[in-house]
Amino acid sequence: MELRCLLLNIVFISVVNAMLAFGFANLDEEKRCSYGRIEKLMRIRCHAMDLKEVPQSLKTSVEVLDLSYNRIRKLKSSSFQRYSDIKFLLLYDNMILSVEPGTFEPLTALQEVDLSNNGLTTIPMELFQLPKLRNLYIDSNDLRNLHHDLQLLETPIGAPLEYLNVANCELHDIPDLGILPNLWQLNASLNPLSNFNVDKLGNLCHLRVIDLTKTQMSPCSCQRVTNHLRDIGANAQFVPLCMEALDGDACPLNYNRTVDSPTFHSCLASAELAETRSFWLFAAGCFGGSFLVLLVFCYCIHRWRKKRQNRRLSQAAQNRKHFVISPRNATNHRLEDQPLHCDTA
Ligand SMILES: *[C@@H]1O[C@H](CO)[C@@H](O)[C@H](O)[C@H]1NC(C)=O
Ligand SMILES: *[C@@H]1O[C@H](CO)[C@@H](O)[C@H](O)[C@H]1NC(C)=O
Repeated sequence: MELRCLLLNIVFISVVNAMLAFGFANLDEEKRCSYGRIEKLMRIRCHAMDLKEVPQSLKTSVEVLDLSYNRIRKLKSSSFQRYSDIKFLLLYDNMILSVEPGTFEPLTALQEVDLSNNGLTTIPMELFQLPKLRNLYIDSNDLRNLHHDLQLLETPIGAPLEYLNVANCELHDIPDLGILPNLWQLNASLNPLSNFNVDKLGNLCHLRVIDLTKTQMSPCSCQRVTNHLRDIGANAQFVPLCMEALDGDACPLNYNRTVDSPTFHSCLASAELAETRSFWLFAAGCFGGSFLVLLVFCYCIHRWRKKRQNRRLSQAAQNRKHFVISPRNATNHRLEDQPLHCDTA
């Protein structure tokens, strides 16, 4: 009797253990991530949870995914396969060392990704082809060899980058991504930038803010950048003050390599092209919209007229019915009006 009880107990405990191990581990992970909304977007926050991988049991309609302050070391091509609605992805302060090719490819709605404070040695090149990516934070990674990978990058890139943060990445020059007609803020502070060349700024025709503080730029480079920024009306607030104002002879700014360069002009032209394209898209949209409204209006009128016609027809039919003498009436009439032949007979 007691033995059976003991056995039952053992069975019960092992079943509970198995359930805990298999069933609830996932549930637990899912539970600890908090669900919420931010500006009408569906947000899941898995912040500082000691996660080692991207959890796969979250709601797939997530739009803002916060995986910051975890211990993720690797992003796999399957990591975000299920979450193609993500617009904002926060992966800062992890230990990401490698990213499998194709990891970011499913994220066609991605607008912002924060990969800062990781162990990356390059920028996953597929990020530059995401059609909606506007903001890229990759600061505090070791990108000293990035220029090798960038040689293979197809330019102009497909992503409409507006903000790029490559601060504290051991860079010796600002990364060459070809013309970036939408980029208005570039943060390259805390890099050596010993090979900085002002010509690169020709690619950035709509630059408004550039952070070059705590770099080892030469006084001449700094003078040239300041002159260039003044020339395009941008903010020189974060360019280190050039201690001694150098005269133009010592440090000439060759405008034909910046604002008068072919790259600067093609950057402007592509921005204009995008603008006219969006204007025409807008115009086409307006035209299409009004055409649709007109179509619906015509259809409604048509329906209304048809209904009215039908009503008239059915009314006419009803009216006509009044004049149809039913056979019974007819007999009755005949009975009343006509003299009975039998009687007369
Ligand atoms: C540039 O990035 C660094 C490091 O992330 C940050 O401390 C600094 O405030 C940024 N500069 C601007 C202008 O946002
Ligand atoms: C830019 O102008 C300078 C002289 O003002 C000239 O020596 C140089 O060849 C020009 N560079 C280009 C790329 O046209």
